[in-house]
Amino acid sequence: METTKIAIVGLGTVGTGVAQLLLEHAEHTNRYAGRAIILEKVVVRDCNKARDIKLPDGVLTDRLEDVTKDPEIRCVVQLIGGVEPARSIMLQLLESGKDVVTANKALLAEHGDELFDRARELGRSIAFDAAVAGGIPIVTNVGQCLSANRIESIHGILNGTCNFIISQMEEHEASYAQAVEEAQQRGYAEADPTMDVNGSDAAQKLALLAHLAFGSRVHWSEIPCEGIESLRPIDLQYAKELGYRLKLLAVARLEDGELELHVGVQLVRRDSPMAGVGGAYNAIRLIGDAVGRVWFQGMGAGRMPTASAVVADLIDMIVGRTAITFQTLQLWSEKPARVLPRPSFRTATRYYFRFMVKDHPGVLAEITGALSKEGISIASFIQHERHESKDDKVPLVIMTHHTTVGAADRAIEKINRLQMVHEPAMRMRILD
Ligand code: NAP
Ligand code: HSE
Repeated sequence: METTKIAIVGLGTVGTGVAQLLLEHAEHTNRYAGRAIILEKVVVRDCNKARDIKLPDGVLTDRLEDVTKDPEIRCVVQLIGGVEPARSIMLQLLESGKDVVTANKALLAEHGDELFDRARELGRSIAFDAAVAGGIPIVTNVGQCLSANRIESIHGILNGTCNFIISQMEEHEASYAQAVEEAQQRGYAEADPTMDVNGSDAAQKLALLAHLAFGSRVHWSEIPCEGIESLRPIDLQYAKELGYRLKLLAVARLEDGELELHVGVQLVRRDSPMAGVGGAYNAIRLIGDAVGRVWFQGMGAGRMPTASAVVADLIDMIVGRTAITFQTLQLWSEKPARVLPRPSFRTATRYYFRFMVKDHPGVLAEITGALSKEGISIASFIQHERHESKDDKVPLVIMTHHTTVGAADRAIEKINRLQMVHEPAMRMRILD
């Protein structure tokens, strides 16, 4: 049987899973690759650090040049997180003639243009299915399998950590801090979970998907984005009472030919498929003009699900499929953008508002008056009696009919300035 030598750079959560699959599933992966895949080197920072895996002698090294200077190593799996030194290492690998598989969405969302252009100049390829939605093969599906379609919308749960945290708070009454800690222990969260919980990780993944699906050129940092940090148990309770669940959604949606992009917590109906996606699972609902509605669901984070996507990319690369797709589709070189971003103030949506107000005469009239001035129509409303509360603070929850983000911004700004309003309003969109 022919052999192909490969290397891994970075032996953390995902790198360990990839090594494990290559060593333990060798018979299976070799059959798909049509040759024996030899794990020649694994590059780490510290060879003496305790690892979850026993590698064959001579494989572990802290010298990148053991890979860059070995002409027999054709493909490298790069699993260092963050932007630097991941970017410089990726360039060194490409320049030394390697094709590279990565799961690093932060790197691609920040420097995708540079890295893809450089790879093409050098006749090399980059594969990155694991960078979006972990084990779900969404990049291949959007980039290849659904290529006959004009995509109309993508709604995704794209961050496993946030979905896990919300589920733990909702189903097990865990505190936010407990849930974050458990997500870290399970290997779902990034080394620094800030990017998970503030929505940036989902925005980076959305930027990559929107680039593939719509030819958008919006940088991830320009996507309106709110994470789960301001989420309160009281909002989970109200959502339940209203027949909804809360999900951090990443949305890319064409409206009047413009592309609306945003990330934020939304209310989704309890009986919808999206609401049933719990734990570290990810889900993507995509609508294409030819295929209609398509659903994807699977583990969006964690060692083995992510390794599954990385190894599939590696096999595609070894077989030669990636090179054909990467060089012919030229997806990343679309300049200028095929669609323009829709200014968020024009975006139409329904809203959940929660106000913490003084339980005094006229408060409701002031709030509904501010909404009415912006043409915002109320669909339902909850205010419970203050049986046990010692102060005069009461939550007031309003669900609206469709309005625009701009109208909601203006109304909320006025309401937040009212004297009888105790704290800034909580607001979340409602998924249609
Ligand atoms: P991780 O557990 O933090 O592992 C990163 C590894 O990179 C560590 O082993 C680290 O070395 C190594 N490293 C850092 N700098 C290095 C350098 N200069 N040279 C060699 N090795 C270096 O991260 P991870 O969770 O595996 O994630 C890796 C990538 O996959 C990230 O981009 C992440 O966003 C992405 N991803 C992760 C998941 C997931 O569920 N975890 C899912 C999808 C995508 P030490 O061991 O010495 O610290
Ligand atoms: N930290 C990421 C998440 C890993 O929780 O979804 C997968 O990209």
